Amino acid sequence: MRAVVITDFHTEPSLADLPVPEPGPGEVLVKIAAAGVNPFDWKVIEGAMRDSVHHEFPLVLGSDGSGIVVASGEPELTDPRFEPGERVFGQFMDVERGRGSYAEYAVVKAAKLARIPEKLDFPTAAALPTAGAAAHDFVEGTGAGPGQCLLVNGASGGVGQATVQLAAGQGIRVIATADPDTGDLLRELGAVEIVDFTAGPTAEQVRAAHPDGIDAVIDLVSTPEQIDEIASLLKPNGAIVSANGAVDRERFAARGLRGSNLYANARPATLASLADAVQRGQLRLRIDYEAPLEEAADALARLKAGKSRGKTVLTVES
Ligand SMILES: NC(=O)c1ccc[n+]([C@@H]2O[C@H](COP(=O)([O-])OP(=O)(O)OC[C@H]3O[C@@H](n4cnc5c(N)ncnc54)[C@H](OP(=O)(O)O)[C@@H]3O)[C@@H](O)[C@H]2O)c1
Repeated sequence: MRAVVITDFHTEPSLADLPVPEPGPGEVLVKIAAAGVNPFDWKVIEGAMRDSVHHEFPLVLGSDGSGIVVASGEPELTDPRFEPGERVFGQFMDVERGRGSYAEYAVVKAAKLARIPEKLDFPTAAALPTAGAAAHDFVEGTGAGPGQCLLVNGASGGVGQATVQLAAGQGIRVIATADPDTGDLLRELGAVEIVDFTAGPTAEQVRAAHPDGIDAVIDLVSTPEQIDEIASLLKPNGAIVSANGAVDRERFAARGLRGSNLYANARPATLASLADAVQRGQLRLRIDYEAPLEEAADALARLKAGKSRGKTVLTVES
């Protein structure tokens, strides 16, 4: 089968011909129809997890994917049980075994997958797991409620757009960062205020509009060096969630703030509720860039270079 692999950290992703993997007990083999691309995929290439977990090379890239179940390892031991032909989606990455979703076929634990509802197409389902689960977990992680004021820093990208919609859907007043071209879209998605992050420092602009502070922040862009400035916008006991491990929890607690670093957990129940929200029109996933599997390296480079205004998806034809 064709798969996009790296042969070591910091190597260029390339197309390889690999044997179709065989599912073990509790696992299913999925014929991939589409693979979602996330910043984490290029971070894996750069060794983001090299100190914490073994990586098996050649390593098939990609976390998110959607496709059709082909076989189960030991069907009687597989829970939940998927029949051949069922449409499924979820997170496929398993770096310890060199497994990922940028391939014609992928093996994954059945317990990590959810069924794709009838009205969802494969590219949309492949775009959903990481960005959708992150948005879901981050909004929940702030503890923000109706009427409270939440800044989404980095709202113009894949996770940000989903975060704005899930928060606004809960009655939270969302301030979203955007460039001049994306502000209207984010208002449509539910943001009540837009901060043009290209016009000047976000913190200064938010402070001018909210001198008494805001209740919560979901930060998708700040480094540990940058996050203090954004956290200074919070009221006492305000909550800040970082997507990039930028929060020093104890230091923030000493300042009377609730800080956390969260990592998306695309549980099947979360995936099912996100897919349902998409199907009902309550969550819009904007696919910003679609390319064939063969162009994965370019798609990753494009995402890394910035200007993402939604999700990137690879389509897999076989
Ligand atoms: N912890 C987790 O579980 C988890 C899960 C998913 C994602 N993440 C992380 O969350 C981040 C966002 O992911 P994503 O998929 O949404 O990425 P993305 O699609 O690339 O979006 C990032 C967005 O942030 C904007 N941006 C960059 N600098 C900014 C700034 N200073 N102020 C405001 N906006 C800025 C970018 O615009 P420009 O390109 O114009 O700069 C882009 O629109 C990534 O770092 C990713 O690794 C973490």
